[in-house]
Formats: sequence, C-alpha cells, structure tokens
Amino acid sequence: MLNIGILISGRGSNLQAIIDTCESGKIPAKVAVVISNVASAGGLERAKKHNIPAIVFEPNNFKDKNTYELEIVKELKKHGVELVCLAGYMRIVGQVLLEHFPHRIVNIHPSLLPSFPGLHAQQQALDHGVTVTGCTVHFVDQGCDTGPIIIQSAVPVKENDTEETLSERILQQEHHIYPIAIEFIAKDKLKIEGRRVKLK
Ligand code: GAR
Repeated sequence: MLNIGILISGRGSNLQAIIDTCESGKIPAKVAVVISNVASAGGLERAKKHNIPAIVFEPNNFKDKNTYELEIVKELKKHGVELVCLAGYMRIVGQVLLEHFPHRIVNIHPSLLPSFPGLHAQQQALDHGVTVTGCTVHFVDQGCDTGPIIIQSAVPVKENDTEETLSERILQQEHHIYPIAIEFIAKDKLKIEGRRVKLK
C-alpha cells in the first residue's frame, strides 16, 4: 500500500477524486495526510470527513522557505508518505522537498504543458485563442510546471467559453487522469528516461 501525502491550497476537488479512488480499492494507495498552506482551504474539511489528518502550515509563520518545507517533510515522513501529490498547491516546490522526495512529487496543472504554465492557465489558453487545451500530470522538478509528463488529457475550447466554463470542463478531466497517474506509480509501472516517462 502506497502512502500518499497531498498538498493543497484551496477547495480540494482533486484531493477528493484521489481520496475516492483510494477508498474504492481500485488502487493500492492510501491518503495518509493532507497539508495546506492556507488555513481556510476547503480541502481540509474534505480530509477530516474521511478521518485523514489535515494540517496547516502557513509559510509566513516560518523564517524562510527551507524551514517551512522542512516542517512539511517532517509531517510527511511521520505519516510514512512515499508519494507527494500537489493538488491545487499554489506554491513553487523548493529544494528541501525535492531533495527528500526525489522523483516522488507529482502535480496536476490545468493546461497541456508546456503551454500555459503558472497561474490562470485556463485564462491564458482563452487569451491565446487555442482551440484545444487540457490538463497534465507531471513529476515536479525545480521549475514551474516543467517536470517530465506522465499523462495528459485534451479538452476542446468552445467559442463562448469563459474562464469558469472552460475550467469546469478541464477539471472533470483532471479528476479522471490524476488517479490514473497515481495508479501507475502505486503499481510501480513508470520509469523516467530524461524528459520522458515510460511504462516499464
Ligand atoms: C485545479 O484546476 C488544478 O489543476 C489547479 O488548481 C485547481 C485546484 O482545484 N492547479 C494549478 O493551477 C497549479 N499550477 P482543486 O483545489 O479543486 O483541486
């Protein structure tokens, strides 16, 4: 059984999709702890409903990023975490987390990377005028949404889409592909070769 730690900043709908898939018994994984950098994040309540420890570490309460991340690492290790999933965690992961979990941190991003990294990916897609966008699950490296790609799903952009309508359709795909990526990892099916993630 793979112990997962999930980092969030907000409502936690991806967190919910991961919890539900784990609880359904479809994948050999369990959400062991949820950590938020925002005290009001809705995802904390979702975790509590499933009796998952839900912890808040606010970066401003720490003297620097390394100290903040070390506290996260301690909490993750305390719960036996072997895979860290970022689910709407709106901070760049730093050196401390990366060193303690090499190739064991994954993220979901609401665009077909490498297009539209960073904030407001869906609005960036609309502003650019693309006709297809989507979402990506990738391993996390030191860059912003730059790590090796595990799985992507394409979503067409409709002519009258707003940021909200497009985000909602992308989100449905996020909930579909994130658990698949975690299943691959939990079943040890992936290998990373340079920028490529391949099935073993
Ligand atoms: C999701 O759309 C996720 O892809 C995005 O934030 C949303 C979180 O929703 N993440 C990023 O933009 C990271 N760069 P959720 O809290 O309901 O899972």
